[in-house]
Amino acid sequence: MSETLERWGSKRAFILAVTGAAVGLGNIWRFPYVAGENGGAAFLLIYVAFVLLLGLPVMMAEILIGRAGRRGPMQALGVLAADAGASRHWRWLGLFGAFTVFCILSFYSVVSGWSIEFLVASINGNFQGASAAEIGAGFNAFLANPGLLVFNHTLFLFMTMSVVAAGVAKGLERLNNLLMPLLYLLLLLLAGYATTTQGFGAALAWLFLPEFGAVTPSVVLHAMGHAFFTLAVGACALMAYGAYMPDDQSLPKAAGAVAILDISVALLAGIAIFSVVFAQGMDPADGPGLMFVTLPIAFSQLPGGSLWLSVFFLLLLLATWTSAINLAEPMVATLQGMGLRRSLATAVVALSVWLLGLLSAFSFSFMADFRPLFGRNMFELVSSIPPDIFLPIGGLLIAIFAAWVMPRATVMRALGTSQRHFYLWQNIVRWVAIPLTCIVLLSALV
Ligand code: PHE
Ligand code: NA
Repeated sequence: MSETLERWGSKRAFILAVTGAAVGLGNIWRFPYVAGENGGAAFLLIYVAFVLLLGLPVMMAEILIGRAGRRGPMQALGVLAADAGASRHWRWLGLFGAFTVFCILSFYSVVSGWSIEFLVASINGNFQGASAAEIGAGFNAFLANPGLLVFNHTLFLFMTMSVVAAGVAKGLERLNNLLMPLLYLLLLLLAGYATTTQGFGAALAWLFLPEFGAVTPSVVLHAMGHAFFTLAVGACALMAYGAYMPDDQSLPKAAGAVAILDISVALLAGIAIFSVVFAQGMDPADGPGLMFVTLPIAFSQLPGGSLWLSVFFLLLLLATWTSAINLAEPMVATLQGMGLRRSLATAVVALSVWLLGLLSAFSFSFMADFRPLFGRNMFELVSSIPPDIFLPIGGLLIAIFAAWVMPRATVMRALGTSQRHFYLWQNIVRWVAIPLTCIVLLSALV
């Protein structure tokens, strides 16, 4: 495979594409419930620190590899390793990334399917005037219905794979341009509404006043995994986007903008969701249903609630769509690199992700008690191990490759920065990001 000539249309388009990959279920659905299960403010603080110290520098490493290689992840790693006189085995890192996103997309598609169901329910006005208890019970009844879960999972995956089949760059650009600002605005409105509820004070305290007594190695591991997950780093997915990056763009600036946007979306979602949690006397550690129950409750009390809720789920769906497209791309690119036509590669990926997703969908009904590992069922396994373990391992290898293996001149050109900034980045990756990731991974395993 030779160098790609395709480029994103502008610097802005690249930032929006990466933001589209970053902002998704991770911010609005996963962040609140994982923070809820891991004690709140201390988790938030550690997670933000990891985003800045690990996620951001490793994100730059990942994108610069794609930009320097200008190929699909496996091929880029292979070519760059050969150039550096290193082992061609580095290319297997691309395959590991593809396996990671394979697992992630399988549950991501199931949960995004919930948004489809909730979008339709909001349009129908099903939540208007319903009590908190009724909304909670309705969500549980929905999860217990495997047919409905599979139907929505299928629909979402079909939406995703149709865009992927058509090729990513052009279709995505337009979608992202429009969507991200809208989603942001709506979250601002929601957070504004949250300030008027009586749970607002408790939510702020819970989110921003850390109690470090509750911090365990497992909390730290979850915070690190979530930092990688939310930035879409560690699975070579952004490497694929870096291959289309314009030549004259500064990578640190672009990555910094994405990280700030991503954190602020999570914060806005957290404020909105936990205000309702506390106003309703709910449990912050309520698990994956947290957002799907709290937001309908909040909107059911608002004038014009059904309309707002429909808009919210529509935007969430579109945000998860752009993330899912990014999740699918490295697998399709890898298969293409092995000689498959794009259409066939897309079909193979769609079918295998669909099959694996069934295990997640059934985990809420007849497979709920099938707990093959650590007492966790399939949904719990596939939504925690790949984000918390595989992404950090992938990120670690990506960081080692960019900071220790690639020649300085290549890295500097791909970063698009001054020598001073290059050394700053390299020192952070070498002496902070890499050791820190190793320490957290090891301490959680022991
Ligand atoms: N960053 C996405 C989110 O927060 C998830 C994602 C992970 C996307 C890994 C691509 C790669 O929803
Ligand atoms: Na995110």
